[in-house]
Amino acid sequence: MDKIKITGGVRLKGKIEIGGAKNSALPLMAASLLMEGSVTLSNLPHLSDISTMANLLVHHGVRLNINACSDYKPGHDGRVMTLSAADIKDLTAPYEIVRKMRASALVLGPLLARFGTARVSLPGGCAIGTRPIDLHLAALEKMGAEITLNEGYVQANAKGGLKGAVIEFPKVTVGATENLLMAATLAKGTTVVKNAAMEPEVSDLANCLKRMGAKIEGIGTRVLTIEGVKNLNSVNYAVIPDRIEAGTYATAAAITGGDVELLGAKAEIMGATIDVLRQCGVEITETAHGIRVKRTGDLLPVEAETEAYPGFATDMQAQLIALMCVATGTSRITENIFENRFMHVPELTRMGADIRIDGNTAVVKGIDHLSGASLMATDLRASVSLVIAALAARGTSIINRVYHLDRGYERLEEKLRGCGAIIERTNKE
Ligand code: UD1
Repeated sequence: MDKIKITGGVRLKGKIEIGGAKNSALPLMAASLLMEGSVTLSNLPHLSDISTMANLLVHHGVRLNINACSDYKPGHDGRVMTLSAADIKDLTAPYEIVRKMRASALVLGPLLARFGTARVSLPGGCAIGTRPIDLHLAALEKMGAEITLNEGYVQANAKGGLKGAVIEFPKVTVGATENLLMAATLAKGTTVVKNAAMEPEVSDLANCLKRMGAKIEGIGTRVLTIEGVKNLNSVNYAVIPDRIEAGTYATAAAITGGDVELLGAKAEIMGATIDVLRQCGVEITETAHGIRVKRTGDLLPVEAETEAYPGFATDMQAQLIALMCVATGTSRITENIFENRFMHVPELTRMGADIRIDGNTAVVKGIDHLSGASLMATDLRASVSLVIAALAARGTSIINRVYHLDRGYERLEEKLRGCGAIIERTNKE
C-alpha cells in the first residue's frame, strides 16, 4: 500500500496551484440528475471522491465525458466534465458506493424531485462521528415526501411531485441545505429554507442552479427562497477554488516559516481561516493571482473554535492543531461541528506534541520541535494535518493510508515538492 515519506525542516518557497473545490464539485455533479440537458463543469479537481460520485451517477445512468484541460488560468483550470442524465435507468444509490462517501446522499433530492421516487442507502457511521441524514429526510418529508427506512435503505416517494414548504433547520447543515436546494428547484410552489448553510460551496451550487433556470433568492444568506420551475436547462459552469486546500497549504507554508503563493486561491471565500492564521503571526496578502502566505516571526498561540461558515471551518481544525504544536505558547482549539474529530491528536502526540483533550477542546502547548515518526490517520483532514506536522518535524516521517489524502488533495506530493519539500510516495515496506 502506498505511503508518503517526508523529511521535515525545509522552508517551503514557491507557488502552488489551488484546484477546484471538492465540496462544490460533488453537489454540482449530483445536480445533473435534475434534468435531461447536460451540465458541463470546468475546474473540476482530479480526486477519488470525484470518481466515487462519477461512479454513482454512471450507475444511475448518467453519461459522462471527461476532457483534461491543461492550460493554467486561475479559476478555470482542472478537468472539464460533461454529465448528461437524459436516460436514467436506476433510482437506487447502492450501499457499496454510498459507504465510500457520505456525499452520495446528495443524489436523493434531485432524483426524488425529478422522478418522484428514489432509494438511497443510509451512509452509516464514519470516522468523524455518527453524521446522520435525519435533517435531509425531515426536510423532504415537509415537502410531501413519504419516507420509509428498510434494510438500511431510505425509500422516498412523492407521487404527485414535491411541494414547496417552509423549512427551518435546527442546526446548520451543508449537505441537507444542498439536497433541499436541488429538490426545491423542481417542486410545486415556493420553498423557504431558514437557517440555511452559507458555505461558499452551497452558494456555488445555488449560482449554478440559477444559471440552469432555477429561481433562487437569498444566495449567501441564512434564508434561501426557491420558487419551483417545471424544467431546468443545460449549463456550463466553473467550480470555485478549494478554500480548504488553500488553507491547508497556507498552514504548511506557515509551519515551515515559508513563503508561498497560492495561485487561484480566493481570500474572500476563506472565512475565518485567514483571520486565525494572521492571529498566529502568519502574513497573508492578496496578489494578482491568489494569495501569498509568509511567516518570518514567531508562531503565536490562538484560541479558535469551529463554526459554520463564515466561522472557522471544521475542515481546517486538524491543520491548525498541527500548526499550534510548535507555537510559542498554549492554544485552545474547540471542535463544535463533529463529535469525534480529534483522531489526529494521538498521532501528533507520537511526534512529541503536547496536547490534552478537554471535552471538545484541544489544549495544545507549543513545543520547540516535533520529531518524525511512522503515522496514520482515519480521515482526510486528519491525514493532511500529519503531513503538515511532518514538514516541520526533525527527521523523517512515514504517513500510511494515503488513500485518505487522495480523496481530497490532488498531486499533494508534487505541489509540496515544487516548493522544496522532501516528500515522496513509496510502496516500499
Ligand atoms: C460538509 C462537508 C464537510 C464539512 C461539513 C461541515 C461536503 C461533501 N462535506 O459535510 O467536508 O466538514 O460540511 O462544514 O460538502 N447533521 C445531522 N443530521 C443531518 C445532517 C447533519 O445531525 O441530517 C449534523 C452532522 O452530524 C454534523 C453537523 O450536522 O454534526 C454538520 O454537518 P453537515 O454540515 O451536514 O456536514 P456534511 O454536509 O456531511
